[in-house]
Amino acid sequence: MSFVTTKEMLKEAQKGRYAIGAFNANNMEIIQAIIETAEEERAPVILQASQGAIKYAGLDMIVAMVKVMAEKVKIPVALHLDHGTDYYQNIKCLRAGFTSLMYDGSKLAFDENVKMTKKVVEMAHACDIPVEAELGQIGKMGDSDEPGVALEKVKESMAVPEEALKFVKLTGIDFLAAAVGTIHGCRTPFAKLDIPRIEKIRELSGVPLVLHGASGADDQEIRKGISAGICKINIDTRIRMEFSQKMREVIKANPQEIDPRKILGPAKEAAKEIIRDRIKVFGCKGKA
Ligand code: G3H
Ligand code: ZN
Repeated sequence: MSFVTTKEMLKEAQKGRYAIGAFNANNMEIIQAIIETAEEERAPVILQASQGAIKYAGLDMIVAMVKVMAEKVKIPVALHLDHGTDYYQNIKCLRAGFTSLMYDGSKLAFDENVKMTKKVVEMAHACDIPVEAELGQIGKMGDSDEPGVALEKVKESMAVPEEALKFVKLTGIDFLAAAVGTIHGCRTPFAKLDIPRIEKIRELSGVPLVLHGASGADDQEIRKGISAGICKINIDTRIRMEFSQKMREVIKANPQEIDPRKILGPAKEAAKEIIRDRIKVFGCKGKA
């Protein structure tokens, strides 16, 4: 079917107390893995492209690949801009047919973040497209970061519930990515979610909440987060890990292999398994 926006999808998830998986679309095989698996599991799904992925594949290629795949299936599929730190990138994605945007002004001062986010919201809402924005700083694991050190950093930059209320009111955003205990790029799940903070932000802001850096949270933390108000869960690192690990295994077992399809095919299957597993944990299996 043709793309849907994230608005209805996340409202339903909020009502039904489950979360929609938002998986990063980095190349053709990963896009196929996400859409095929979601269709097999009857789960609504969000494919999201970061500015890096757009630079790598080209905006038109990302839209075209996701669109062709989405039109072959019956489940609702949305195409979302992930961490759009660039105002103009948001405009380009809106024009290219994305059905959900994210303005990420988390590195800006509060007032500047409000000002820029509001500009994106005004533009997107004129076209009935919803907008996600970030409050607090979710941050990224450095290659040499120790989990303990990373967790300390996370604690210092969490979203403040009263600010979340103000931010949502002033900007008119549809979903909030609040920093609540995760950090991007974790290869092991050591994050501890601040559940009372999530509950408070949900109660004050009323909007569906988005969990970023969710590769770093184990199943128990994820389930607690969903009960507290998380409705969209972003996963990138775990897919990258499974995909590239399988490529390494295939190349190691067949060092003379020169057919990329014989390397990328099994990698796609490995990506499908982790996506399937996440869909079950998020509770969105069978919701489409
Ligand atoms: O925006 C993307 C996500 O927050 C992915 O986080 O790479 O830690 O899974 P992750
Ligand atoms: Zn993120």
